[in-house]
Amino acid sequence: MDGFVTGLMDRMTVREKLGQLNLPSGGDLVTGTVMNGELTEMIRKQEITGFFNVKGVRKIREMQRIAVEETRLKIPLIVGADVIHGYETIFPIPLAMSCSWDTVAIRRMTRVAATEASADGICWNFSPMVDICRDARWGRIAEGNGEDPYLGALMARAYVHGYQGDAMKANNEILACVKHFALYGASEAGRDYNTVDMSRLSMYNNYLAPYKAAVEAGVGSVMSAFNLVDGIPATANKWLLTNLLRNEWGFGGMVVTDYYSIGEMKTYGVADKKEASVLALKAGTDMDMVTVGFLDTLESALEEGLISEADIDRACRRVLETKYRMGLFDDPYKYCDTVRAEKEIFTPEHRKEAREVARETFVLMKNEGSLLPLSMDKKIALIGPMADARNNMCGMWSLTCVPSDHRSLLDGMRDAMKGRGEVFHAKGSNIYYEEEMEKGAVGFRPLERGDNGKLLREALQVAARADVIVAALGECADMSGESASRTELELPDAQQALLKELVKTGKPVVLLLFTGRPLVLNWETAHVPAILNVWFAGSEAGDAIADVLFGHAVPAGKLTTSFPRAVGQMPLYYNHLSASRPDPQDGVFNRYQSNYIDQSNEPLYPFGFGLSYTAFEYGDMRLGSECLPKNGELAVSVEVTNSGTCDGTEIVQLYLRDVMAEVARPVKELKAFRRIFLKKGEKREVVFTLTEEDLKYYHSDLQYGYDPGEFQVMVGSNSRDVQTKVFKAE
Ligand code: BGC
Repeated sequence: MDGFVTGLMDRMTVREKLGQLNLPSGGDLVTGTVMNGELTEMIRKQEITGFFNVKGVRKIREMQRIAVEETRLKIPLIVGADVIHGYETIFPIPLAMSCSWDTVAIRRMTRVAATEASADGICWNFSPMVDICRDARWGRIAEGNGEDPYLGALMARAYVHGYQGDAMKANNEILACVKHFALYGASEAGRDYNTVDMSRLSMYNNYLAPYKAAVEAGVGSVMSAFNLVDGIPATANKWLLTNLLRNEWGFGGMVVTDYYSIGEMKTYGVADKKEASVLALKAGTDMDMVTVGFLDTLESALEEGLISEADIDRACRRVLETKYRMGLFDDPYKYCDTVRAEKEIFTPEHRKEAREVARETFVLMKNEGSLLPLSMDKKIALIGPMADARNNMCGMWSLTCVPSDHRSLLDGMRDAMKGRGEVFHAKGSNIYYEEEMEKGAVGFRPLERGDNGKLLREALQVAARADVIVAALGECADMSGESASRTELELPDAQQALLKELVKTGKPVVLLLFTGRPLVLNWETAHVPAILNVWFAGSEAGDAIADVLFGHAVPAGKLTTSFPRAVGQMPLYYNHLSASRPDPQDGVFNRYQSNYIDQSNEPLYPFGFGLSYTAFEYGDMRLGSECLPKNGELAVSVEVTNSGTCDGTEIVQLYLRDVMAEVARPVKELKAFRRIFLKKGEKREVVFTLTEEDLKYYHSDLQYGYDPGEFQVMVGSNSRDVQTKVFKAE
């Protein structure tokens, strides 16, 4: 590779090298405020390295042909896209995927996504997004794996392995891009594109693990974040992109900016386009997404001595090496097989995978009197704006799919119930009462609006004919994802009012919750007997939800993000530090303690929480010894019994607390878990083995190690309901 790339670069002019650093948006699929056109002209002039946001293998193949047949250097193009939870076969949104706690599910999703994307000409995926998020106001919480760095790191690894497969050897193994490096999930006040300000200690202990895990898993590219890190835009932050990423972590791939983020350094008040380009390049950025700052300004910067040719060469080399590793120099058409496009996209097999995986991601939040699963012989009123909203099932960031091919929940339930009971349907309400509010909420996926009063009347008529009501409510797809921050986290007004009316009928109500983020569900929890959170489950949502509603599959998902009682609790996360005067948690307000006058500190639904149709009983936790010896092991075991009425999967969780440490440590941190399938009546001993690796953290000097002394170990079915024992680490 070295010799090949050096030979190639020897023949390149400075401008041609800069062309390799320039990534425009194709503009078919819009994701930002700035557009670039005229791709083919730019290819002929060797001014671009590739592009993104173009759909269709024929179009892409033709552009690749121009690049490798009609240009002097014949350098193949790289073609990117955001295929973050499927290409045309859409899987649940990543936040939902993380609630499976199942890296096998991630593997199934990423393999299907990579297969379909690559069959349609895409060889570079702007995924995984691994930003830890503790603030549900931020819409992009939907794109990540929730609030926990340990689980986030596991997921990050699984995504990278899934997309890249065996080092991108096969034509359905594509380049992954971990993003948004770094800390984007800590956007202040949950407002997108906002600032971030964070201590090194918090970065290292709470936020960096998933990016690092992706690097260790061999991710080939990294996308820098929009936000500031230590006051310097991540795009041009040398400490971040060179010292940490390359020198400390040994990353050897390429770094691309986020969309127009070199350009946006001007709005930060840091640098205009030329200076920003210089700073970004020198900091370790290799590729400029959309700004065209590198191509337009770096030649003159070179002449003026602001950068050296070695700076340009370094970036160019990394881009060419990446293309080399992908096998594009051997076969530029590797990902442009038009026959594959016919046969490998949105296939019955892929859809089956998506349906099965989707069922694993639902979280059963409440199920009073075992209302769920429902009998198919009943008369069911399916009511709510998400009941027949085919175009909303796939959730945010699914620009490449064809929603008209998807089935709605109503389709899924009708088919499932064929020859049995009946399902009656009414839309019941708009998303919001006000049209303006709704316009902002529905984004790319508009829903037909009806008259507020009429919708409610129809819903009540339909409800009157039924034995049970299934209310399909919540956010619509584009209320989460990029640029979808909220300051209120309740169900939107019209839907909340509808739900109250439905509950008033006295009939049993199941709330099927559609959401891309934690919502505030106080009223719902107090008044609705069953709540099943289905997130946005993808193209097969309709059938997958019906499967779980009727008990063909048993919910096993557990929350990877805390559900608050009030927006005012944000940021809210289970692995917080102890306050100097911790809340005694006695349910009353205690003056001069760290609590609120008007609300508990606790989440409504904690991290790790999720019910099943069956029940799991935990025996007493046992420790192999009271001491974890130096370089030794400590066994922690617990017997779990399926004591309920059906087979099911339980996720057994282990948390640790370092009781006294150099640096204040979280009240608990997830360190291990097991997903176990237990037949009805079956019991199993779950054994965890702790080593000193599990005790380590970054100290005030950022050294990674542990402090001998007392630790608490907790085991349970979620982060709140745990048994605790103590051991000593030598
Ligand atoms: C987003 C990225 C995305 C990029 C390209 C940006 O607006 O922040 O996550 O990969 O657009 O579509």
